[in-house]
Amino acid sequence: MAEKSHLSFFISLIATLLLGPGLSPVRAKVPALIVFGDSSVDTGNNNGIQTVLKSNFEPYGQDFEGGRPTGRFSNGRVTPDFLSEYCGLKKTLPAYLDPSYKIADFATGVVFASAGTGYDNTTASVLNVIPFWKQIQYYMEYRDRLRKYLGDQKAKETVSEAVYIISIGTNDFLENYYVLPTTRLQYGTVQQFEDHLVGVAKKFIENIYSLGARKISLGGLPPMGCLPLERTINFLAVSECNEEYNNVAVEFNGKLKGLVDQLNKEMPGIRVVFSNPYYIMMQMIKRPSLYGEFNSCFCH
Ligand SMILES: *[C@@H]1O[C@H](CO)[C@@H](O)[C@H](O)[C@H]1NC(C)=O
Repeated sequence: MAEKSHLSFFISLIATLLLGPGLSPVRAKVPALIVFGDSSVDTGNNNGIQTVLKSNFEPYGQDFEGGRPTGRFSNGRVTPDFLSEYCGLKKTLPAYLDPSYKIADFATGVVFASAGTGYDNTTASVLNVIPFWKQIQYYMEYRDRLRKYLGDQKAKETVSEAVYIISIGTNDFLENYYVLPTTRLQYGTVQQFEDHLVGVAKKFIENIYSLGARKISLGGLPPMGCLPLERTINFLAVSECNEEYNNVAVEFNGKLKGLVDQLNKEMPGIRVVFSNPYYIMMQMIKRPSLYGEFNSCFCH
């Protein structure tokens, strides 16, 4: 059931990336999915680094094939896995740092994401996970390996035709801005901090664009005030969602959407979509029965 709702949400995203606004009715083939971000899209990179933020133990993975924890922060697969399957590629996307995979596996999709990371450099340092900028370095290494594996021409095609997925930002607020006085001192109001993060997002997209990326999905924030931890420690209204955090998510998402519109105007040949998980997740939280039976939802 959870699988179905995931899918219908992302079909519109993929359709936009593949068809463009009102263009060819033929679905272009996606050669690979390339994923950057945090726990929302990490498929196991934190297994390979020195951090306490891991999910390689039960009950994670209880609904995964074989019922095993993989390093996904989920009872089963995560969104990029579903997208990959929808594109006719693998059912699960490999984590770049998983030594059991080779470039042959990564050629049709790879995940550089790391749970706990954020746009801001300080966010990754809180739990010693892979910084966002470092994910680009891994991506550059990947491109070199891809060139050796596929040859120049084919690798170039793969890089420019691939769909790039970016999903990150929650930890910048919940593990960083609202926890560390030093960050608040450095950036000021939460709006100023949001603007700083949007600046990092812009640079990141310009960076991968200059490396060949053209089809990009920039993910927004979920209703982060409804994460189980935030509800548990909500002193104003015990076990309710934290309204302030949710308002910040909506505000920040508005800025990301503005960035996406700007990039589409300014950068030739780019096609960026803003993928907003906020409202559909809010509906799942408020009316879970619409989506069938969840036995564990919104893990983090
Ligand atoms: C984050 O750190 C990297 C590596 O040290 C650096 O290149 C980058 O400029 C930093 N980003 C910001 C926004 O300070």
